[in-house]
Amino acid sequence: MKVLVLGPGGREHAIIRALLADPEVEQVHCAPGNAGIAQVVPVHAVDADDPAPATQLARELEVDLVVVGPEAPLVAGVADALREAGFPVFGPSQAAARLEGSKAFAKEVMAAAGVPTAMARVATTEAEAADALDTFGAPYVVKDDGLAAGKGVVVTSDRDAALAHANACFAAGGTVVIEEFLDGPEVSLFVITDGTRVLPLSPAQDFKRIFDGDEGPNTGGMGAYTPLPWLPEGFVEEVVERVARPTVDEMRRRGTPFVGVLYCGLAVTRRGLRVIEFNARFGDPETQAVLARLATPLGRLLMDAATGRLDEAERLRWRPESAVAVVVAAQDYPDSPRKGDPIGGLEAAEALEGVHVVHAGTATAPEGEHAGRIVSAGGRVLAVVALGADLDEARDRAYRGTDLIELEGSQHRTDIALKAARGQITVPSHSAPRPRQEQA
Ligand code: AMP
Ligand code: GLY
Repeated sequence: MKVLVLGPGGREHAIIRALLADPEVEQVHCAPGNAGIAQVVPVHAVDADDPAPATQLARELEVDLVVVGPEAPLVAGVADALREAGFPVFGPSQAAARLEGSKAFAKEVMAAAGVPTAMARVATTEAEAADALDTFGAPYVVKDDGLAAGKGVVVTSDRDAALAHANACFAAGGTVVIEEFLDGPEVSLFVITDGTRVLPLSPAQDFKRIFDGDEGPNTGGMGAYTPLPWLPEGFVEEVVERVARPTVDEMRRRGTPFVGVLYCGLAVTRRGLRVIEFNARFGDPETQAVLARLATPLGRLLMDAATGRLDEAERLRWRPESAVAVVVAAQDYPDSPRKGDPIGGLEAAEALEGVHVVHAGTATAPEGEHAGRIVSAGGRVLAVVALGADLDEARDRAYRGTDLIELEGSQHRTDIALKAARGQITVPSHSAPRPRQEQA
């Protein structure tokens, strides 16, 4: 099998590592990739967000499968163009990717499918926004309706700040979704689907805020771990039956089947399971941790989803270890990340037992004082990923690797998976699904 992966980041590097471990996968290509991806597969300087060049590249390479990593090409219709050209594609159509591309659309689908989510209102004016804020009360949750790379959401108890964010979105020509605040721990569950059948991966937790203790602004994600030892028994089955399956069924019923991975961003609240958001692709950096544990060959799995042959009965195989991914971000991320600095310590980190480095915003400097060296080229620069016998060991290894990375001004959180490792995450009592009945 020859696979083309579209995208530039850590998620794509993690997907490519997993594809290369599948004996059925003979060749992997990537566009545009990054410096780490270029070390393992051929990369192509093609605008992967644009349907025409992406399809042209797939034709030239004569690939058997295209895997679309990020949301931007999906929302731009890259998967549609590739399918029209006859390629099996892992990734939803433009119409189905609206589940991520418009929060208002996602809410409408959830309402139609009976999927539990936060109560919400769409606002287009300051007066509507103010009214919605006062209806739900503090803490306030204000979301830019369109794509914002995880940074369009403001959660605050400051009503003026909430209103200011809404006004900023209006000024940019957008609308906002204002919703009730969901308490309780968050879970990311990736559900692979061929448009009909659904197959969940192992749940993970992401760390959205830039600073330790969940302080500071939202980012694309500063780290992740999996599995989640604190989840109640039956949690994944509950998400499949109450969230993923009804959503996939509703999208098919509308004539816009969702093929790819439905990212269910969930809160485990006092009142039960709630969807915070859907994404139309694998999460970043959760994928770096989740795929580190997947023992089932990934190429066949994604091909089966792309060609409508997913086997729901398949028992995915997982390595018994825990995985922790720690993101190293550039100075001044998420506002205005500094770029172009050389990165050291990559080989030393990878030499540690159970540790590998997944590149995100990296490039090989073409010229100048660092010519030929790997330099930072994005906000989230890389993730140090470690497997360990338990979360403590995986954390210990990931942080020993992180400490070896040299990048001027870089930042990382020191508390990824810490609460879970210490047993400090509790699920609000009413939310635990009832234990399954014993067979008579
Ligand atoms: P989203 O882009 O919708 O995933 O939102 C980004 C982050 O904002 C989420 O991961 C949550 O941490 C937070 N968030 C979003 N919606 C809510 C909500 N209704 N209640 C509490 N936190 C939220
Ligand atoms: N880690 C959050 C996301 O991928 O959207």
